[in-house]
Amino acid sequence: MFDRLREDIAAIRERDPAARSAWEVVTCYPGLHAIVLHRFAHACWKAQWRWLGRFVSQVARFLTGIEIHPGATLGRRVFIDHGMGVVIGETAEIGDDCTIYQGVTLGGTSLTRGAKRHPTLERGVIVGAGAKVLGGFTIGADAKIGSNAVVVKPVPAGGTAVGNPARIVMPAVEKKRSDEPAKSGFCAYGITPNADDPVSLAIHGLIDHASTQTQRIDEIVAALERLGARVEALNAADGAALVDLKRLCTSMDGKTEERAASLDR
Ligand SMILES: CC(C)(COP(=O)(O)OP(=O)(O)OC[C@H]1O[C@@H](n2cnc3c(N)ncnc32)[C@H](O)[C@@H]1OP(=O)(O)O)[C@@H](O)C(=O)NCCC(=O)NCCS
Repeated sequence: MFDRLREDIAAIRERDPAARSAWEVVTCYPGLHAIVLHRFAHACWKAQWRWLGRFVSQVARFLTGIEIHPGATLGRRVFIDHGMGVVIGETAEIGDDCTIYQGVTLGGTSLTRGAKRHPTLERGVIVGAGAKVLGGFTIGADAKIGSNAVVVKPVPAGGTAVGNPARIVMPAVEKKRSDEPAKSGFCAYGITPNADDPVSLAIHGLIDHASTQTQRIDEIVAALERLGARVEALNAADGAALVDLKRLCTSMDGKTEERAASLDR
């Protein structure tokens, strides 16, 4: 029991830059208190002392603001940061090294008693503040759920899901993990440097394509005119469309000024 507590404390200190000492973690982290109480509630639940399990879970909720059903299965080194408003349903399963922020719901959408109604988080999943994961599907290992996302479908291992309804913004990647928490590759708050959204990349690609085509058409028109053909100038509506394209390009992000300049050429 003390081994589990020690590794829980170590995991919190590793994953929360604000945690300054083991004493602070033991005394001031409701996520830790909720998990310790859940272990007792879960043991009662498995021993068929269902009411006692529910009662311990209610006491934990009263003390911490975190509601974990005693039937839920939690792995090792699970960290619930801040925790207020977290709800974890009866058939939820949370793998080792998962991190859950405040306001997360691991909820169900079906009322079928005895069915798997709540999600399974595989190892190392990070669920951002306020996210809702609803249904009995699986979130793959090392996946990240953005804050306030509403996830209603499985997320592949290593994927990142954001929005409502959540969409995958980064392709799944194979990531090597280490069993040692210090080498687990955890990124505080789930932030990945230099990651890019494939939807955004696709739009940038389309803008580039449109820009290249415009340039080619201008060249063809110039060549035709050199051969003596007369080509009508762009009417006002087409010109406006071109301006919009430039505005879209510059508004996509700060890194697209080169693309906007290329549209001017
Ligand atoms: C989802 C998350 C893990 C992605 O982080 P990341 O890997 O660094 O990815 P990026 O920040 O590059 O974002 C990728 C794209 O998703 C978008 N995005 C990121 N987080 C989002 C969110 N929560 N909701 C909607 N869109 C989001 C970004 O705007 C970006 O889109 P763009 O490429 O069109 O600009 C992170 O933003 C997040 O929400 N982490 C949880 C943090 C948290 O809950 N903290 C609580 C601390 S108390």
